[in-house]
Amino acid sequence: MKKLLLLFVSASFGFACGQGERVSKEVFEEVNKNMEIKRLTEVEILEEAMEWGDSISSEAQKQLISQLQNAISEKGIPGAIEFCNVNAQPILNEVAKRHTVTIKRVSNRYRNPADQPDSDESALLDAYEYNAENGIKSDPNIQKIEGGEVFLYTKPIAIPSGLCLSCHGDPGKEINAETLKKLDELYPGDLAKGHKVGDLRGMWAVRIPKNEVVKRL
Ligand code: HEC
Repeated sequence: MKKLLLLFVSASFGFACGQGERVSKEVFEEVNKNMEIKRLTEVEILEEAMEWGDSISSEAQKQLISQLQNAISEKGIPGAIEFCNVNAQPILNEVAKRHTVTIKRVSNRYRNPADQPDSDESALLDAYEYNAENGIKSDPNIQKIEGGEVFLYTKPIAIPSGLCLSCHGDPGKEINAETLKKLDELYPGDLAKGHKVGDLRGMWAVRIPKNEVVKRL
């Protein structure tokens, strides 16, 4: 019955709208978690992916910041560097696995070379950088990749507070000698120093499979 109703709604929708509009409001048949065939528009799927990407990246950020704060209070700033070196990516991977997505933080001024953007991420990161340099506010973005089977959700990462500067600020000013020594040892090609509060530090990049988005609808 429910399925019939959905069919009716989409059919009358198609009838009410002209030919031209029909293309942009294309309706897809997708199988959701209850194995029902659901008729969804591309816009509905994109909106759900955007919301989910927002909540996943916020959750990942909260996890990182709270665990970083714990590490700083237990081991001090230089000790917390080792903590970040060993644990930052595993913390993200844990959140990612729980949501069946992948999570990265990428930056052109990377500390860990593994955080360089790939070809899908690069143009988006460059656009966020352009905006930051020109005083334009950046919004999160969602984009189809891999033939439309995966959504790439991105969101800028700014430096919100002085806390970050103890490891990403100026050596000798915010970064003390002991911290600098640790950074030099672990990250000889470090590009992630010299930041100020409000600077763009990088970008969240969350890859969300389309079929996982559909299951939520
Ligand atoms: C205790 C030192 C420390 C503090 C404080 C710190 N970071 Fe980092 N940050 C690091 C280290 C070390 C890495 C590299 C982690 C790795 O190897 O995966 C890193 C990496 C990053 C990355 C990934 C991109 C890259 O350059 O590799 C981002 C984004 C980032 N930090 C943002 C922040 C923000 C925002 C804050 C403040 C909320 C902050 N960091 C505070 C030490 C710190």
